[in-house]
Amino acid sequence: MAKLGVNVDHIATIRQARGITEPDPVTAAAIAELAGADGITVHLREDRRHIQDRDVEILRKTVKTRLNLEMALTDEMVAIALKTLPDSVTLVPEGRHELTTEGGLDVSLLQSTLKEKIALLKQAGIVVSLFIEPDIDQIKASHRVGADFIEIHTGTYCEAQSEVDQLQQLQRIEIGISAARKLGLRVNAGHGLDYRNVGPVVALGGIEEFNIGHSIVARAALVGMERAVREMLQLLKG
Ligand code: PXP
Repeated sequence: MAKLGVNVDHIATIRQARGITEPDPVTAAAIAELAGADGITVHLREDRRHIQDRDVEILRKTVKTRLNLEMALTDEMVAIALKTLPDSVTLVPEGRHELTTEGGLDVSLLQSTLKEKIALLKQAGIVVSLFIEPDIDQIKASHRVGADFIEIHTGTYCEAQSEVDQLQQLQRIEIGISAARKLGLRVNAGHGLDYRNVGPVVALGGIEEFNIGHSIVARAALVGMERAVREMLQLLKG
């Protein structure tokens, strides 16, 4: 069975909307682990729009499964990773104005910097994954720069507007998984996956872990709404 890494960024998004202390992504991570999550993922963005440095520090101490830190390829982030020592790092491209990570890394373009930073992270015992499109050139480049894993960007598949397009994107992912595994790269996948579209990707096989965030947090808000309202009503009753 494929593993599930739960991304708790958007618990922090709700917290940051009020600038207070709740809801706490650390508590959400513990509940996700109790429910059976195989790992916890957070993206410490350069603009700190959701997850904060303190969250990563506390999660490093409290996560009992595996902590995966998503981050941009910058000196600042590499220094944080070397200090905090997450179990794995997933390198992602980052744009200041994007709502969420928009594309995969251009590994071919960033080859020399990637090679140097990946070596540093691996020396510290951190497993390194590169978030890329299922593109043969990017997969080959990921192998060349010494990544342990690739994480296949499933966003284009998730956004497909027709069944034909969805099938094409699924085939692209399937070819990518096979090419990566032939090179000895391990494969994760994520972005945009939800309760309806994850099944066909799971059925492809060959993916070790799915990193899923927004759809889980969105569902948690809705399935938890009834209980939350009932509890408040109880308090109003006195
Ligand atoms: N994997 C990577 C590399 C991501 O950047 C993200 C979004 O932060 C995810 C997985 C999770 O995507 P989603 O929140 O759409 O499930």
